[in-house]
Amino acid sequence: MSTLLRSGFDRRYVLVPMLAAIVLVMSVFFVAEARRAYTRDLSLVIRDREDRMRKLTELIYASLESESAQRGYLLTGEPEYLQPYASGRKLTEQLLADLESRYRARDQVEVPVLREVQSMLETKYIEMDRTIKLLDVGANRTALRLIKTDVGMQVMQQIRTNIEVLRSREGDRIAAGVAEWDKEIRVNSLINGLSTAFTLALLIAVGLLATRDIRRRDLANRELENEVSLRTAELRDLSEHMLRISEVEKSALARELHDELGGLLVSMRMDFSQLRRRLQLPDAAAEERWARIDAGLKAGVDLKRRVIEELRPTLLDNMGLVVALRWQAEQSCQQGNMQLIAQLPESEPELNNEAAIAVFRTVQEALSNILKHARASEVRLVMTVQGDHATITVEDNGVGLLNDATAGGGSHGLKQMKFRIQAIRGSCEVRNGPIRGTVTTIRFPIASNARAPAGVEEAT
Ligand SMILES: Nc1ncnc2c1ncn2[C@@H]1O[C@H](COP(=O)(O)OP(=O)(O)OP(=O)(O)O)[C@@H](O)[C@H]1O
Ligand SMILES: [Mg+2]
Repeated sequence: MSTLLRSGFDRRYVLVPMLAAIVLVMSVFFVAEARRAYTRDLSLVIRDREDRMRKLTELIYASLESESAQRGYLLTGEPEYLQPYASGRKLTEQLLADLESRYRARDQVEVPVLREVQSMLETKYIEMDRTIKLLDVGANRTALRLIKTDVGMQVMQQIRTNIEVLRSREGDRIAAGVAEWDKEIRVNSLINGLSTAFTLALLIAVGLLATRDIRRRDLANRELENEVSLRTAELRDLSEHMLRISEVEKSALARELHDELGGLLVSMRMDFSQLRRRLQLPDAAAEERWARIDAGLKAGVDLKRRVIEELRPTLLDNMGLVVALRWQAEQSCQQGNMQLIAQLPESEPELNNEAAIAVFRTVQEALSNILKHARASEVRLVMTVQGDHATITVEDNGVGLLNDATAGGGSHGLKQMKFRIQAIRGSCEVRNGPIRGTVTTIRFPIASNARAPAGVEEAT
């Protein structure tokens, strides 16, 4: 995760839009908060105004209730009408006080209008009180006369008109508030929409830049891979060439040793033995010295043969791969005092020199490794030919491979085995046996490594 972040911040095309997005998101958050507070205040004001409006309506009804209760009392003389009269009056007073405190807090211009309504209502109630009192003292006619005058009606009409004016202005304010609230909501949506669009645009830009970067890297990687495989192919060609040359040189050297040194040593030995037959040596010491020279010459011939065999297995050239493999395995097992179990085919696969020497050298290295590392008592060499492919396995019952056996920097045997067999389009695998020891499995195609038809000269 931290690597991802670090590598992400390394890229300017990620860092810059990311910082821009952070700044944008934070600014939008603060602006949205401020606007939200403002719209909330706005809605509180609208609610307050609606409340005032309701209270103004209630004020009309409360005063009308008092008035109709007063009339009921005057007409019937029933005292139960006095109770709604009093409660209407009380409610009127409460509503007026409440409305005044509200108008003082907001829209003070309406306070004088409200005051006027208040004083008119007071006048109205004084007049209604008077008629009630007249009835109480039995002056029914005077009281009825008083209410029949249209002065009371005009006052009530005036009160209603003033309240209606207040209500209508309140309505206008509410409508203006609602319109502003609507506008604010629209602006908020616009800001949200714009910031979302901007963030999306940033994300798309980052995505496009990242895609371009990835594509560029892919291209660079592909170029690098091409370069590496080109170099690997060159190195492989070079190594194959070196191996071929080395085999050719070894072969030439072996021929030279065989023809020149071999001839020399053999003819010297023959001359010596002829001379010995003719010469009478003076004493036992001379006899002994003669025998030492003869043994030295014989050792020289043997050494020459061994060296030649090392340089270029003559059996391989003369008898073929199967015979050479058997001979090499027998030599190694004899040297390491191991038992050999060999299962080799009767017929020789028709391989060209290059393939035959590659297979032979690989089995030779496997056997040499067994001698050097395995501490084995038994070696099994099996070769099978199936269809177009030959498989050779070299097994030992020794200590097996260590975990890091193939990682050794100074060891080249196993690498070279694989390399040689790959060069003839085959595969070579060295791994531990199922119970103990190691198993080397060599598999290679025969047809593509077949000997060229007679008349076509081979490279080696
Ligand atoms: N048959 C085997 N049994 C046990 N260990 C083996 C066997 N063959 C190979 N190894 C291990 O694998 C290692 C690598 O073998 P490799 O042939 O590459 O190198 P080497 O034999 O040590 O040196 P060289 O380069 O001279 O061949 C050896 O050092 C050894 O530890
Ligand atoms: Mg080795």
